[in-house]
Amino acid sequence: MAEKPLDEITPFDPDARGRRLDGKLTSSHILAEVGEHVTEFVERVGRQPKLVAVLVGDDPASATYVASKARGCERVGILGETLRLDAEVTHDTVADTVRTLIADDSVDGVLVQLPLPRQVDAKAILDLVDPAKDVDGFHPASVGRLWSGRPALAPATPSGVIELLHRYQVPLQGRHAVIVGRSNIVGKPMAALLLREHCTVTVCHSRTRDLEAVCRSGDLLIAAVGRTAMIGPDHVRDGAVVIDVGINRIEDSELLAELYPGNEKRRRGFAKRGYSVVGDVDYHHAAPKAAAITPVPGGVGRLTVAMVIANTLAAARRRAGLDSE
Ligand code: GUN
Repeated sequence: MAEKPLDEITPFDPDARGRRLDGKLTSSHILAEVGEHVTEFVERVGRQPKLVAVLVGDDPASATYVASKARGCERVGILGETLRLDAEVTHDTVADTVRTLIADDSVDGVLVQLPLPRQVDAKAILDLVDPAKDVDGFHPASVGRLWSGRPALAPATPSGVIELLHRYQVPLQGRHAVIVGRSNIVGKPMAALLLREHCTVTVCHSRTRDLEAVCRSGDLLIAAVGRTAMIGPDHVRDGAVVIDVGINRIEDSELLAELYPGNEKRRRGFAKRGYSVVGDVDYHHAAPKAAAITPVPGGVGRLTVAMVIANTLAAARRRAGLDSE
C-alpha cells in the first residue's frame, strides 16, 4: 500500500503566538528522505546500512528509546539490532562487546545507550567507539571535530533541534539563543551547532544568576535540564521560539492538574498509566507568550530518533566511500 503523503511544514510566523512545532511530522519528513537515500545506498553498495545499539540493564526509559530506534531503522530499510546485556555485567564485558562491533565490517553505526550501571566506566566505553561509527557523536574526537568546524557525526538531539528550526524556517543568523543546561549530550553540542548557524549563544546552568532575566533575553530558548516545568512564562520573551528538550515523568495528579488545567486528554492518559510525560517548560502557561513552542511528547524526542538514523546513513555512506569525509 502506498504511504499517505506527508503534510507540509508551514513556516514559522513571528507574529503568531503559541504555534506548536510538530516533532512527529518533522521526523516523518526526515525519515522519508533518509529512506530514499537508503534505497540508493543499497543499489550502489549492495547491502543495507546497519546500526547496533548496546543496551545494558533494564531501565524502562532506555528500553523505550532503543526500541523506537529499532522501529525507525525498520521503517527506512536500515538493519537495526539491539544487544542486551545484564545490569550486573562487568565493565570488561561491555568493552569487549563494543570492540567486537567496531571490528565488524558489516556494522556502520554503534551506540551505547546511557546511563550505564555504576560498575561500568561510561567515559572509557565511549572512548572505544570508533569516530567513523559514532552515531551518537559522543567520542572526544567527534566532539573536537564538531567544535573545530569539521564534518562530524553530531549528537542526535541537538541535531534534531537544528533540523526542526530549519524546516520551520526559524531565523537563526544573529539571533540570541539561550540554552538552559550544559550536558555533553544536549547543552554543549547544542551551543556548537547554534554557533555554526551564526547565533549568539548563551549557555545557562544551575549556578547562573538571575536565570529568568537571562532566559528572557533569548530570541530562542532551549530548555535541556531534566526538571519538570522549571521554565515558566517569566522566562520567555514575548515572541520567542521555545524548544523543550526535557522528558520527565510526573506521578502526582495534583501537579498534573496545575500544569495542564482543564486538559482532559492528559487527565485520561494519567488515569490509565499512572503517570504523564512532561517537559522542562510549563507548556500551558508559557506557550501563549512564545511565537512557537515544541510540545512534550511529540516534540524533540521524535527528532532524536530520526537523527540517530540519519547519522547511521551518513556513517555508512562515508565508510562505503560515497562521501569524502
Ligand atoms: N541517553 C539519553 N540520551 C541519549 C542519547 O542521545 N544517546 C545515548 N546513547 N544515550 C542516551
